[in-house]
Amino acid sequence: MKKPDRVIIFDTTLRDGEQSPGATLNISEKLQVAKQLADLGVDVIEAGFPVSSPGDFEAVQRIAKEVKGPEICGLARAVKGDIDACWNAVKHAKKPRIHTFIATSDLHIERKLKMTRQQVLERAVDAVRYAKKHTDNVEFSPEDAVRSDLTYLCSVVEAVIDAGATTVNIPDTVGYSIPVEFGKIIRTLFERVVNIQRTVISVHCHNDLGLAVANSLAAVNAGARQVECTVNGIGERAGNAALEEVVMAVKTRKDLFQLITNIKTKEIAKSSRLVSKLTGMAVQPNKAIVGANAFSHSSGIHQDGVIKYRTTYEIMNPEDVGIEESTLLLTARSGRNGVNSRLKYLGYHIQAKELDKLFDRFKALADKKKYVFDDDLISLVDEGRSHVPELFALEYLNTSSGTGVVPTATIRLKKQGKTLQEAACGDGPVDAAYKAIDKIVNIGPKLIDYQLRAISSGKDAQGDVMVKVEHNGMVVSGKGASTDIIEASAKAYLNAMNKLSTAQKSQGKQIKEHI
Ligand code: KIV
Ligand code: ZN
Repeated sequence: MKKPDRVIIFDTTLRDGEQSPGATLNISEKLQVAKQLADLGVDVIEAGFPVSSPGDFEAVQRIAKEVKGPEICGLARAVKGDIDACWNAVKHAKKPRIHTFIATSDLHIERKLKMTRQQVLERAVDAVRYAKKHTDNVEFSPEDAVRSDLTYLCSVVEAVIDAGATTVNIPDTVGYSIPVEFGKIIRTLFERVVNIQRTVISVHCHNDLGLAVANSLAAVNAGARQVECTVNGIGERAGNAALEEVVMAVKTRKDLFQLITNIKTKEIAKSSRLVSKLTGMAVQPNKAIVGANAFSHSSGIHQDGVIKYRTTYEIMNPEDVGIEESTLLLTARSGRNGVNSRLKYLGYHIQAKELDKLFDRFKALADKKKYVFDDDLISLVDEGRSHVPELFALEYLNTSSGTGVVPTATIRLKKQGKTLQEAACGDGPVDAAYKAIDKIVNIGPKLIDYQLRAISSGKDAQGDVMVKVEHNGMVVSGKGASTDIIEASAKAYLNAMNKLSTAQKSQGKQIKEHI
């Protein structure tokens, strides 16, 4: 059987990607990224634009010397000085490549270069010929190809192939094209350029209309066999085609493309995190493949489906891109199956009856909190399993405090159908709440310890309060959790009171509560 064709992955994170505003990397950071790109299995690393600064030159040179595996490429305008600088930087690599370019759209030729089409064509050919003196591996890009006259573009491509370009890259420099059109441009080149089989056709798409990946894939469909892309899609303006999206589209839809890449997809998540960390460019949560939500399911119906059969709502296996597992985000929209499955994962095997009650508490918490995390769930289980009889149950709590305000609390407790209410002032809202509880419960223990910690993360995290109280030589602890820390404190104190009351009752002592 014929081996499937391969798409060459040309990574330009360190050149076009680094052109993103604010994404500047130092030499050691560039080396780290380049080594990770080699682990990722990219075929070509465009390491920089050597003539642009001594720092860029040194970075490209160090990468050429130290990074093994991929071809190391440098960018050069179609002028001798750039090409020489580029060669001096990349020549140390086992497989060096020179990438030279000049714009071919009339807009650029007339307004920017102030040249004629003929002059540009000749300059392109001269640049390729000159680069070929250094290495056989020469790539040429007609910048702004998409907005170039197609007949003229064909003649430039043909001429540079004749001059020896081993790769011809067709850039959508300003991200202007749409997939049908871009695919057609590539198809036209294959139809009209007579020597096209002597070169690899590459594409380089910008994302100004959010179509960089779609355009790249349309080009692949039309015969392009190199895609220029960046990790996380970073790059000039709206960025370049995202490497991870191109690669995973080709892999996931192999049925359509019948193509492979050399990328070790399990390295994708790690590469994304490294690039994001070093460039300081956060990845949007809903970003395809590498966003925090890319493998997170929030809706109850989806969670249920994924638990029953992963592919109901997942077209890729998260492990294939180096993410350990999909997350079923527990929210108010989650169902019992989602909650129970997470509990099982956490080691809790809950009977149906207990699950009913726990699910009610889960819903109440999820209404207050955006996400219910593992710690929250464990706390809900613990809360349900604490066998302290709830002699006094918290029904209502209202506190007021602030600068220049005397902290006060009003508490209403329920005890065997009776409602008991008290108010008190204190040193702070927690102290006031405890004093109001004391007035009702009438035990008056000594508070010997109070600890508050956040369960899980985020601004809406639950507060978990643990108290220790002492009464007549008996020390008991109490626990309470809530998204409101005053309520958590009151619950913890009441939990301790209930323990004390139960213990005193079993010792035959009556508690006189306020009525
Ligand atoms: O966007 C572009 O046209 C480029 C070229 C230098 C390939 O980055
Ligand atoms: Zn570009």
